Amino acid sequence: MTTSKVTLRRLRELADAGTPLVMVTAYDFVSGRVAERAGADLVLVGDSGAQVVLGYPDTTSITLDEMLTLAKAVRRAVRTPFLVCDLPFGSTELSDEQAIATSVRFVHEAGTDAVKIEGATPARLSRLRAIVEAGIPVMGHVGLTPQTATALGGLRAQGRTADDAVRVARHALAVQDAGAFAIVIEAVPAAVVAEIRRALRVPVIGIGAGDAEGQVLVQHDLLGITEGRSPVFVKRYAAVGEAMVAGVEAFASDVRARTFPGREHVYPAADEVAAAVRSFIDAR
Ligand code: KIV
Repeated sequence: MTTSKVTLRRLRELADAGTPLVMVTAYDFVSGRVAERAGADLVLVGDSGAQVVLGYPDTTSITLDEMLTLAKAVRRAVRTPFLVCDLPFGSTELSDEQAIATSVRFVHEAGTDAVKIEGATPARLSRLRAIVEAGIPVMGHVGLTPQTATALGGLRAQGRTADDAVRVARHALAVQDAGAFAIVIEAVPAAVVAEIRRALRVPVIGIGAGDAEGQVLVQHDLLGITEGRSPVFVKRYAAVGEAMVAGVEAFASDVRARTFPGREHVYPAADEVAAAVRSFIDAR
């Protein structure tokens, strides 16, 4: 488990030594503290926060200001892991200058160590290169890229035909060549990712991608907080959502039965204190 501040160099050393990298998402102080206390190597303030904590229907709905608010809360909690923030939809599309300005805001306002950008179109690669040249480390993201899910035919696995698998491989190599220090590959068959990794020098952090240098999951998915069906690549390690509902139900039941608050939950006062208030009230 990591105990001193994780740096880019440390990530490289871990990957070179064959030590799997652990990345988990966080969106607020509480989930940031959980990631810190659990010893994650990297924490991602993902734009999945749009759905997971803000209740939007998709990741494209979250604004830059909303992402910055989440990132600042996570930063207050995260001391040891390497902190990466997603560049949200609409915050980089106009120009390389816009992408640099957005990334600088994440560094200045949220103290982020790196940013993550989805995709590998010529424009995306140009943004990636520009941000790296501005001195901010960038994590790439290929395969299923939720910000452009509509163009990819929905939230579905990528690289399942020969042509599409080669397209994902091209994207990963292009993102590496543009200067990414690591690449998230999402929802791509394990055998395809294994071939792509043979050609990559930078670590792959997989999500639905089989074996890789690291793995990432959405914290609320792995803890069993999110409701409904999860993608096939999610493993639930706890049933925290059920525990939360059960806790609030028990509170509601105690309140309705007047068994809460109990004697141990109230402030004591000497008899004369209550008597003084009684006299005051009665005299009105
Ligand atoms: O936004 C997010 O949570 C992500 C991970 C799924 C990698 O990009």
